[in-house]
Amino acid sequence: MRPVPAALALSARSLVKRFDDLTAVDGLDLDVHAGTCLALLGPNGAGKTTTIEMLEGLTQPTSGSIEVLGLQWNGSANAIRERIGVQLQDTKLQEKITTFETLRLFQSFYDAVRPIDEVLEMVGMTEKRGARVETLSGGQHQRLTLACALVGRPELLFLDEPTTGLDPQARRRVWEIVETFKTEGGTVLLTTHYMEEAQRLADRVVIVDAGRVIAEGTPSEVIAGLEAESIVELFPAGGTAERLADDALLVLPGVREVRREGSGVTLVVTDTQASVGALLAHLGEVGVALESLQTHAPTLEDVFMDLTGKHLRDG
Ligand SMILES: Nc1ncnc2c1ncn2[C@@H]1O[C@H](COP(=O)(O)OP(=O)(O)OP(=O)(O)O)[C@@H](O)[C@H]1O
Ligand SMILES: [Mg+2]
Repeated sequence: MRPVPAALALSARSLVKRFDDLTAVDGLDLDVHAGTCLALLGPNGAGKTTTIEMLEGLTQPTSGSIEVLGLQWNGSANAIRERIGVQLQDTKLQEKITTFETLRLFQSFYDAVRPIDEVLEMVGMTEKRGARVETLSGGQHQRLTLACALVGRPELLFLDEPTTGLDPQARRRVWEIVETFKTEGGTVLLTTHYMEEAQRLADRVVIVDAGRVIAEGTPSEVIAGLEAESIVELFPAGGTAERLADDALLVLPGVREVRREGSGVTLVVTDTQASVGALLAHLGEVGVALESLQTHAPTLEDVFMDLTGKHLRDG
């Protein structure tokens, strides 16, 4: 018997958004299967927030079609809103009311709800129950906006950079919340600049740049697309870096690509042993002393760097 494909919780076709003469989203296709997590990755200004806000029904697309839980925004907006949870990249909450009151307000938008104390517990904010929003730290405010997205028992959760600005412990807690949400059958679309987050949470990643998809697949498929066995990073000792020519490095066995950043040189290699051996011999020949040399298995960050020339974590 052929496996039955999981239903699509979210689907977009040929999505375009123009702001005057700027095309922020340029013909994007996206599918998210029910019960899975998809991470949208891209540098600052790539169009992630614009995309997610169109999917959330907050921004009108210039053209293209969107289906959320089998429904279209045009005509079914209320039915969709009842079933989704939204955490914006930069949510402004009312300053003068408390954490509890904020959640009660959000709760009032939904029929099926989660008890407020349960949501506070989920995001680790129980002790801030009576605190006014204006007194919360940045990370606490961020966790409150996540709580607002969870209080309506959503089937589909949209998270735009949910862990930016959080300390490592709070970040892990958000990861656990997302994982539990998924275990219970929920679907997640998130954007992030943290590749560790994408690698841990996402079943599939979509990398966008300038409003277009430039790579997609499971994290391991996307990493395999780099066709690299490892990444070699070397820092020549002070004053000797200029003796290294990119052309000479590129002809070493197994070296596929050479990138420079500050005084560091990064090589994308297909044969680690051959490349490192030849590299060390070459360094000796041209008189370059090493300050450090490291190799690591390729990550999403390396794919991202390879495709866009930018770091995921610029922002
Ligand atoms: N309301 C708007 N009017 C004009 N331009 C806009 C508007 N909203 C977004 N843009 C532009 O569209 C492009 C995409 O922005 P978007 O916020 O979607 O990027 P992003 O991928 O979310 O970036 P970041 O990682 O910094 O959050 C940017 O060039 C931005 O300046
Ligand atoms: Mg954004």
